[in-house]
Amino acid sequence: MGVDSTRSAPSHARLKSRLRDFWNAQTVYWEHLSEEVAVNSDNRSRAASYIPEGSRILDVACGRAANCVWALGRGEYFGVDISMRGLQRAERTGLQLFCADAESLPFQDRSFDVVLSTYALEHSVDPAQMLSEMTRVTQQGGRIILLGPSWDFPFWYPNSLSTRAHKPLWRLRYSAKRLATQMAACIGAKSPFLIVEDPDAFSQPFEDDVDAVYVVWNFEVIREMKRFGCELLYANSDDQLLGSNPVVRLVKQFLMLFPAYRHAGSTCLMVFER
Ligand SMILES: C[S@@+](CC[C@H](N)C(=O)[O-])C[C@H]1O[C@@H](n2cnc3c(N)ncnc32)[C@H](O)[C@@H]1O
Repeated sequence: MGVDSTRSAPSHARLKSRLRDFWNAQTVYWEHLSEEVAVNSDNRSRAASYIPEGSRILDVACGRAANCVWALGRGEYFGVDISMRGLQRAERTGLQLFCADAESLPFQDRSFDVVLSTYALEHSVDPAQMLSEMTRVTQQGGRIILLGPSWDFPFWYPNSLSTRAHKPLWRLRYSAKRLATQMAACIGAKSPFLIVEDPDAFSQPFEDDVDAVYVVWNFEVIREMKRFGCELLYANSDDQLLGSNPVVRLVKQFLMLFPAYRHAGSTCLMVFER
């Protein structure tokens, strides 16, 4: 089916390596991630408002380090990304940038006051490990800021599954499987952290999130962060994916009364305190 929650370590490593090659080979990809885009984003400005002044800030999966355009004004900025090509395209010189894996950060425990990640969790092949690493390097009392897309309802999917999702039978099976794993997680089973094994990025032209591998479900992200001892300070999702049909909107708003879908939306900003 192309989506799995029980992947082996070798297939995990293979997928990560293919993705790294993909990002290193892209030029069009990096054009979208400029400082100009970062500075004109309301979501990113809201994220910046949660950074206390004078913080040591780590930007995880920073890409071209475009976030430094607002983060530098709040403290000392460090960036980490798995793609050397991305880091080389940073628009400023003299930044403290490191080529490393978000799932194994090259920093000591509690090294930063704020650890943030924007539009990146959905690209992690092991999101629980990335969240664990982000928490590990955050000071006690420090903040972890996550901003990016989510596909909370079982019938939502990222563009990386678009070619398959055009087939109604595939979509039905995907939604049913997802719903079953979500319901099981709600009554105590392991969180699914559903991964797209073969994202459309490897065969289709580039568009946003054609390379997303983690089908983000905010409920499990929040639950995992709580398991790491973090408290949710703020969460806000926009309503773009609710659509314009009033009946469909109403049904989705009804579903959002359930804790599993409380934060369903298109883009979500979450702030945690460690
Ligand atoms: C959509 S870009 C976002 C870049 C940047 N955070 C921004 O908001 O402009 C996703 C980034 O995640 C990086 N990435 C994906 N998996 C990673 C990993 N395991 N470790 C570090 N970086 C990773 C990619 O190289 C890419 O730069």
